[in-house]
Amino acid sequence: MPPAYILGIESSCDETAAAVVRSGEQVVSNVVASQIATHQPYGGVVPELASREHLRAIVPVVRQALAESNQTYDSVDAIAVTQGPGLAGALLVGISYAKALAFALDKPLIAVNHLEGHIHAVLLEERQKGNHELQFPVLALVVSGGHTHLYLAAQKNDGWTYENVGHTRDDAAGEAFDKVAKLLGLGYPGGPIIDRLAPHGDPTAVKFPPAQIKHRDRRDRRGQKESESNRPRFDFSYSGIKTAVLRYVEVHDMHRSIDQRRRTLANMFPPKPEDYLANCDRKTLDLVASFQRAIVEDLVSKTLAAARAFDVATLFVTGGVAANNELRTTFEREGAQAGLPVYFPSRKLSTDNAAMIAAAAYPKFLAKDFSPLDFSAEASLVLR
Ligand code: KG4
Ligand code: ZN
Repeated sequence: MPPAYILGIESSCDETAAAVVRSGEQVVSNVVASQIATHQPYGGVVPELASREHLRAIVPVVRQALAESNQTYDSVDAIAVTQGPGLAGALLVGISYAKALAFALDKPLIAVNHLEGHIHAVLLEERQKGNHELQFPVLALVVSGGHTHLYLAAQKNDGWTYENVGHTRDDAAGEAFDKVAKLLGLGYPGGPIIDRLAPHGDPTAVKFPPAQIKHRDRRDRRGQKESESNRPRFDFSYSGIKTAVLRYVEVHDMHRSIDQRRRTLANMFPPKPEDYLANCDRKTLDLVASFQRAIVEDLVSKTLAAARAFDVATLFVTGGVAANNELRTTFEREGAQAGLPVYFPSRKLSTDNAAMIAAAAYPKFLAKDFSPLDFSAEASLVLR
C-alpha cells in the first residue's frame, strides 16, 4: 500500500488549523492559527468574530501546511475536514473551503467528527512513536472547552465505533476553567492560566462539595439501543462548582481585588505568566488550586470508575484540558495503581489541531468512506 497524504482542515471553534498526515501515523506538517488575541477582550469566544477570523486565515494556513510538508494541492491524496460539533458559522468556513478544493482538484472529501479527531490524536502519536501494541477495549475521556465525554472505542473491520457512556449534563470541564478564570479577572482562555497558578496555592484550602447527579439524563435514551440504555452511566456536572466559586468570592469580599487585577492585566498586551502570579493574593491562589483539584479528582475518579465497570484495557485522555499538568500526573498515578495504561496526546495535539482530523480520516480513506459535496456543518454532531 503506497503512503497516503491527507490534508486535514479544522475550524470548529477558535483555531484555524491545517495539517498533512501520512497514512494516519506521521504528522508531516501541523499549522494552527490561534484567535486568542481576537477573543481575549471579550473573555470568551465570540462566534461572529471566529467566523471572520477563519475566513482571513484559512487560505494562508492551508498553504503553509502544504509548503511545510513539501506537498502541493495536486499531490495530496484526500481532503479531510471537521463537520461538527462546533460553531456552525466557524465550521462552514472550513467545510466550504475543503469542498471547493475537493471539487476543483477532483480529490476525495472526508467529513470527520471533531471528537473522533481528539481520540485519533492519541492513536496517531502512539503509531508515530512505533507503539502498535495498544490493548483494546479503550475508554477515551474527551475533555475540552465544549465537551466532557466518555467513549468506549472499538475497531471494527476498517472503521471505528464509539459508545458514549458518560457526558456532562451542563458545563464542560474546560468551560468551567474558562468561566472561573474570567470570574477571577484572570482572562481567557482560563485553563492554561489556572494550570500555571495552581501549584502556587493550597489545593486543600477550599472544600467543594462533589457534583450531585440524581436522575438519568433523558437525552441518553434517545436513539439508543435497548442493550445500551441499560448500561451504567458516568455523567459529569460542572456548573455547580462555578457557582460555588462565585459564592466564595462574594462571602470573602474578593470583588475589589478582582476588579483591580482585571484592570492591571488589561493594560498588559498580553500578560506574561509571571504577571498573573504577581497580581494574585494568597486567597486567590488557594481558591484556584482548590478548584483545579476538585475538577481533576472528579474527572479521574469517574473515568476510573467507568474503566472498572466496562473492564477496559487502556485509557485515553484527550482534548484541551488533557494539557493540564495536575490532570496528567493524577491520571498517571491513579492509572498505574489500577494497572491501567493511560495515554495522552502531546500538549500540541491535545488542543484543537488539524493533524487529528487528517488522522481520523485515514481509516475512512482506506474504506473509501467519502462524503458527498453537499454535506453540511452539524453544530451538534453526535459521535457513534
Ligand atoms: O480542545 P480545545 O482546544 O477546544 C475545544 O474543542 O473545546 O480545548 C480548549 C479548552 C479551553 O476551555 C481551555 O481553557 C482548556 O481547553 N485548556 C486547559 C489547558 N489548556 C487548554 N484546561 C486546563 N489546563 C490546561 N493546561
Ligand atoms: Zn476540540
